[in-house]
Amino acid sequence: MKGVLICGGTGSRLRPLTDVTNKSLLPVYDKPLILYPLQVLLDAGIRDIAVITGKEHLDQMTHFLGSGERFGCSFAFKVQEKPGGIAQALGLAESFVDGSPVCAILGDNIFFDDLAPIIKNFKSGGHVFLKEVPDPERFGVANIDGSVAKGTFRVTSIEEKPPRPKSNFAVTGCYVYDKHCFEIIRTMKPSARGELEITDVSRAYMEAKSLAATVLQKEWIDAGTFESLFRATELVRNQRSASI
Ligand code: G1P
Repeated sequence: MKGVLICGGTGSRLRPLTDVTNKSLLPVYDKPLILYPLQVLLDAGIRDIAVITGKEHLDQMTHFLGSGERFGCSFAFKVQEKPGGIAQALGLAESFVDGSPVCAILGDNIFFDDLAPIIKNFKSGGHVFLKEVPDPERFGVANIDGSVAKGTFRVTSIEEKPPRPKSNFAVTGCYVYDKHCFEIIRTMKPSARGELEITDVSRAYMEAKSLAATVLQKEWIDAGTFESLFRATELVRNQRSASI
């Protein structure tokens, strides 16, 4: 399986912190944010990783990440010319992924659950990770039905930031897809906000009855706002001091 670390976007909700710096390089306690999602890929045994970023941030991303040698992996860098959505960013990695299954993860998401067993055991279709939240309208939202295996559910609806969410299950920023995701992305049209939505990729799998979901039990953070970035730092610090 190949990995794709998606670090595009302007980080507009974090200005002025993101005036110069890519959101994923901002500090979360003692490490830049990006190292948390990177660790998810490494824990799953993924060693070939494409990093997608805007051209204004390519220098700092390559400077920090380098070849991947110090993380025991190999990075390929791809430029997303304009913020055109997460699905567009993933589409840029098509030739890199070259027919393998892929785990795409957002550079601003921090997971406290261990996702590795699911990612390693992935066979086909799509798999998303859900987290029960009080404010689902801020995220992709999924409904689930009947368990297909221990702890794994079938997704029955999935919508991007619905004003009236059908559940409290936010779709988190880690997506495991088989090679068909790239065919899906090629046929997609931009949403009302002008982006190719990752939720539409997942919905295509759902309509083919091949989208599964796991519900996370621990904390999950989308560190795209001042409050969530601060909360991420608190959680990581607490976890660090608990393990000393
Ligand atoms: C994106 C996705 C959304 C998902 C979220 C997770 O939202 O579009 O479906 O729930 O990431 O972090 P964005 O952060 O681009 O608003």
